[in-house]
Amino acid sequence: MKRFAIVAGARPNFMKIAPILRELDQRPELTTVLIHTGQHYDRNLSDVFFEELGIRKPDISLGVGSGSHAQQTADVMVAIEKVLLEADESGQPFDRLIVVGDVNSTLAAAVAATKVHVPVAHVEAGLRSFDRSMPEEINRLVTDSISDLLLCSEPAGQENLLREGQPADRVHLVGNVMIDTLLTQVERARQRPTLSELSLEPEGYGVVTLHRPANVDDSSTLSELLQVMAEISDRLPLVFPIHPRTSARVKEFGLQSIIEAAPKVQLLEPQGYLDFLCLTSQAKVIVTDSGGLQEESTALGVPCLTMRPNTERPVTCDQGSGTLIGNSASLLREQLEAVLQGTYKQGQCPELWDGYAARRIVEVLTRS
Ligand code: UD1
Repeated sequence: MKRFAIVAGARPNFMKIAPILRELDQRPELTTVLIHTGQHYDRNLSDVFFEELGIRKPDISLGVGSGSHAQQTADVMVAIEKVLLEADESGQPFDRLIVVGDVNSTLAAAVAATKVHVPVAHVEAGLRSFDRSMPEEINRLVTDSISDLLLCSEPAGQENLLREGQPADRVHLVGNVMIDTLLTQVERARQRPTLSELSLEPEGYGVVTLHRPANVDDSSTLSELLQVMAEISDRLPLVFPIHPRTSARVKEFGLQSIIEAAPKVQLLEPQGYLDFLCLTSQAKVIVTDSGGLQEESTALGVPCLTMRPNTERPVTCDQGSGTLIGNSASLLREQLEAVLQGTYKQGQCPELWDGYAARRIVEVLTRS
């Protein structure tokens, strides 16, 4: 019997661990301990995902909470090291730790595990924005450099890792596990009354999300982005589920008046998985700086205007429905016009984004 641990900490992790954990729990030769670091703790950023996606209760909750990057990373490292050093009742240590994505919890768990000689598998390995000002890029680089199994969601991930000198037998293109969850939930999500509750018509609105430090932590950048949203909303009503970081910055910089002056921008609390998928799957366009949403919009075939100068997920622009906008208001207007005129490009769903990534991941994990 092998003993694995799988770690989740922040919102985008939960939809990635759900299908992997389900596959692992079906294997009689494995026991898997689910560790929640507590990086995200608000109900709408955490518990709702467990309930809606049927993820079992964490076996261990570390309760680290918010903090500076160093503080949060250190707190997870200290707490997880303790868990990894404790053998179970039968004296069996962990055979492997699985981490997903690129949040601080991913990096911290990978470092702590490697140092106590628990091998690490990284799901969503090899993605690179080549922009080291992004905290996630540092998390990706460090996590990949110390993981011994590198499981990639798109070919660029595989190419980056091989170019960095990773041995080919550690690197596996397995597909996109976040899309496994999307495909199993999209029909259920569309049944929800979310649109009628918000007085929206299918394809008659856009969805906006913004939370990256580069977009929301600088007052003039955030102000300009909000002004463009207000302007767009005259042509297409927008819904904007607002992340706590963004909401705090809007207040801190005194920018509430821009949103208040735009009646067709509906600010919402962070949405649960199903309500959000109900919204995104029927949107005319998505405007976002989220990594996960770039992928989800590609799988849904909904145009995605990506408010970033670069992306670590190039397949979403090369093959999918995404276009990089940076923070250029003129490019945003131009591409939005194309969406409204019906001349925006048609994307395709990338290879292996087919609902079976978790199965392929668990096959690699169990034979390695
Ligand atoms: C984190 C991830 C980011 C991911 C995002 C998704 C890192 C470096 N960043 O960013 O990659 O895209 O999650 O949401 O790991 N807060 C709450 N409630 C919570 C959690 C946080 O109000 O449950 C507030 C706190 O004020 C906190 C701030 O949000 O300081 C930022 O949270 P944090 O987890 O540090 O980073 P995110 O911006 O959420």
